[in-house]
Amino acid sequence: RRILVLNGPNLNLLGQREPEIYGHATLADIEALLATRAEQLGVTVECRQSNHEGVLLDWLQQAEAEGFAAILLNAGAYTHTSIALLDAIHAIAVPVIEVHLSDPSQREEFRHLSYVGMAAAGTVQGLGAQSYVVALERADAL
Ligand code: DQA
Repeated sequence: RRILVLNGPNLNLLGQREPEIYGHATLADIEALLATRAEQLGVTVECRQSNHEGVLLDWLQQAEAEGFAAILLNAGAYTHTSIALLDAIHAIAVPVIEVHLSDPSQREEFRHLSYVGMAAAGTVQGLGAQSYVVALERADAL
């Protein structure tokens, strides 16, 4: 099974970006963590990051043809703004697990709404880098 891991805007800055909220792990650290857990589970992960909403939409749309069984998606702030991501997740057959390092429900009011969550097969948030690992385990069990 192949699992696609998509990270959205500003997640390329992890490690230096508000570490008191997001921790000190870089995106490369998180991807290494996922690769290790994936090997234990006997699955393959492919990790991509983009700051561009349309690129994330293209990757979601192409995932089935590319042979992915599930997608982990941390859409960053697009989580709270993008009806286009909501529509794409509804449109595709590949299940999407929503991931967040922080717990948006415990933060500013404007982070409480998640368009991604309205269509996702599940959500893992608030566990820091471990959110991705737990989400990978969920995706493997789907
Ligand atoms: C985030 C939470 C979002 O509200 C924020 O815009 C991010 C990161 C997280 O992983 O905690 O960019 O998705």
